[in-house]
Amino acid sequence: AYPDAVSIIEVGPRDGLQNEKAKVTTAQKVNLVHQLTTAGIKRVETGSFVSPRWVPQMADSGTVFARLHRQPGVTYSALTPNLKGFEAAMEAGADEVAVFGAASETFSQKNINCSIAESLQRFEPVMEAANRANIPVRGYVSCVLGCPYEGEISPAAVAEVSHALMEMGCYEVSLGDTIGKGTPVKTAKMLDAVLHRIPVDVVAAHFHDTYGQALANLVIALRYGIRNIDSAIAGLGGCPYAKGASGNVATEDVVYMLDGMGIRTGIKLSKLLEASKTISSIIGRPPASKAAQALLAK
Ligand code: HMG
Ligand code: MG
Repeated sequence: AYPDAVSIIEVGPRDGLQNEKAKVTTAQKVNLVHQLTTAGIKRVETGSFVSPRWVPQMADSGTVFARLHRQPGVTYSALTPNLKGFEAAMEAGADEVAVFGAASETFSQKNINCSIAESLQRFEPVMEAANRANIPVRGYVSCVLGCPYEGEISPAAVAEVSHALMEMGCYEVSLGDTIGKGTPVKTAKMLDAVLHRIPVDVVAAHFHDTYGQALANLVIALRYGIRNIDSAIAGLGGCPYAKGASGNVATEDVVYMLDGMGIRTGIKLSKLLEASKTISSIIGRPPASKAAQALLAK
């Protein structure tokens, strides 16, 4: 059976825009978040507090947070790789933070400049500070279905890092198919390993659509009972470390599919399309979402 309801975590303003070349102003980012919450999104990954030299697109996250038109019941979260990032996120008023690790050693080095084990150590002080401040922490695992450097990643490696993040105090673990290489049976094998170590309630699926497999993989995740799905409006984004990689699965496509399956999200597709249209015109290309293309052509 499929779940009755799914919680969508909109990651376009962070995972999407961090990888877009077009200049998006602070005001445009604030407006994007507002359009998304107007459509009924309750969880928005709004920015990240990382080195601006590594990710210049997120350098204005503090100002984005300061200018948000905050809506009741909405959680505005931020990515924080270390204590410095956590402190900046707290100053900006983030409701929730996320630490990000990987199931691939090489990816960990290239993305956050340390090994998997070191990254877990660096997250410890973030966990302690967040615990004191009563701030929930989400944990990401990247490269769960493949790595741009190492190729295949073993399901056991994904399960191990997922378990470590939970042990450390994360309330949810988001499984990232960073380069979108996964296919359904592979997804099932990975989930078999992970769900052996952590409960399904705390798992989120974070799939990229590089090879057009994200929705198929999400159906597998839903079959396993996963009720948290990360997606990005208009399929924004890409991956700087993987040539040809496209963005996260588009929120419009996920909501269209879930609507069709009778799975509640609380999100209005027609309103979502407005957000999609606006941000797509800003970055100068049509939405990657097939549902948005079809509906906007009407
Ligand atoms: P480092 O060089 O090892 O760290 O980088 P450091 O502590 O030596 O600091 C280097 C410089 O960065 C210093 O500045 C620090 O002050 C500064 P300098 O003295 O050279 O001028 N710095 C910071 N500045 C602002 N905010 C901070 C911060 N920390 C240090 N929080 C570090 C380590 C993690 C900082 C760096 O590697 C980094 O920022 N990486 C960013 C990686 C990133 O954002 N990647 C994209 C997100 S992950 C992702 O997209 C995948 C995901 O979506 C899941 C999926 O799809 O699978 C989550
Ligand atoms: Mg991602």
